[in-house]
Amino acid sequence: MAYTVLARRYRSQAFGDVVGQDAVAQTLKNAIQRDRVAHAYLFCGTRGVGKTSMARLFARALNAPATMPDAPQPSDVELPETDVQQRMADAIMRGDDLNVIEIDAASNNSVDNARELIANAGLAPTANARFKIYIIDEVHMLSNQAFNALLKTMEEPPEHVKFILCTTDPHKVPPTIQSRCQRFDFPAIPTARITEHLKAVVNAESLDAEDDLVYTVARLGNGSMRDALSLLDRVIAAAGDDKLTVTTLETLLGLPETDLIDNLVNAAAQGDVAATLRAGHDLLARGVSQEQVVETLIERLRQLMLVAACGPDADVVELSDEARKTTAQLAAHFDTDALVYLITLADNLQRHAKQSANPRALFDAVLARMALAEKMADVAAILAGNTTPTQKKKP
Ligand SMILES: Nc1ncnc2c1ncn2[C@@H]1O[C@H](COP(=O)(O)OP(=O)(O)O)[C@@H](O)[C@H]1O
Ligand SMILES: [Mg+2]
Repeated sequence: MAYTVLARRYRSQAFGDVVGQDAVAQTLKNAIQRDRVAHAYLFCGTRGVGKTSMARLFARALNAPATMPDAPQPSDVELPETDVQQRMADAIMRGDDLNVIEIDAASNNSVDNARELIANAGLAPTANARFKIYIIDEVHMLSNQAFNALLKTMEEPPEHVKFILCTTDPHKVPPTIQSRCQRFDFPAIPTARITEHLKAVVNAESLDAEDDLVYTVARLGNGSMRDALSLLDRVIAAAGDDKLTVTTLETLLGLPETDLIDNLVNAAAQGDVAATLRAGHDLLARGVSQEQVVETLIERLRQLMLVAACGPDADVVELSDEARKTTAQLAAHFDTDALVYLITLADNLQRHAKQSANPRALFDAVLARMALAEKMADVAAILAGNTTPTQKKKP
């Protein structure tokens, strides 16, 4: 059997499955409950946070409520038999129901007929469906003609027509359209919630995965569930029949090895300039780009700072139990101030390296400075007494 990607296989089947979008789900459910469903909705948010999923579920709750345990059940409307509703629901979730029409405004071939589809919106729904629902993905990409057709329909919307417009770029949607929609902003999904979901997927797939791997994939998802699931797909492919490990992920993405980054931080903590420089050399010797090394280093320093400031068990620390322990041990060498300073150094390095004729020299210099930070901090404290807070401007 062909492999279907995880993001597809684990599409939310109920309002409660859409991770991190509880507020949106609740408001939509209330609207159905109180019979106050608007004619048009605008779902905004970055990719992979559940806009399309929520749009399909909302459509399903409107046309086939009996198939959804957490959809409000209308008492005063006549709906088809449950098995008919189930067939509708299946088609809606696949995206090919006759009455729930999905238009992907981003794919060129649909832009031409989008106008026609929208212009026909006035036609009644077929096959005992209650509503005709248009889900327009990436709506900001519609052609002008299609926008005009949409606007016309939205000005005098037929009772049985609903629009759910989805976009990653709300500011590109004409204000005339926006003002006719009820807008929902889908927030990025917190890493902890992505982690939970990934763990459930890993269990359901009976996969053997390191805890740390799941946390790291979730973090690299950057608030997008789809990105996290796609990355997990890639790790599964790369691992073959083996356990899913952080090392597999690091090799796959060309990320520096966590252990080597920790060696560097440890050497800097000891004030050992030579060892710090050697650790930097080892990292680059693996063929990982300097930019990637510094980026990972900054994220590592951030974790250390959070642990130093908030303690290893704090919620803001998004690490596996195992990683919390090793992070706490390493963080014990620093106070929060020092870590703030190191992050600033690394961040400056990242910015300046881009324009530098010799980025490697800058890299080494900053590493040496990190190892000397402790001593320099003392010097800075002494100097602080003699310096004035405002620098003299050049004439
Ligand atoms: N909030 C979420 N909760 C659970 N899964 C999600 C969520 N957001 C996205 N996904 C996963 O990513 C896939 C694509 O999501 P989609 O709803 O199309 O996102 P968007 O439309 O915001 O780009 C879904 O099939 C699902 O597997
Ligand atoms: Mg989508």
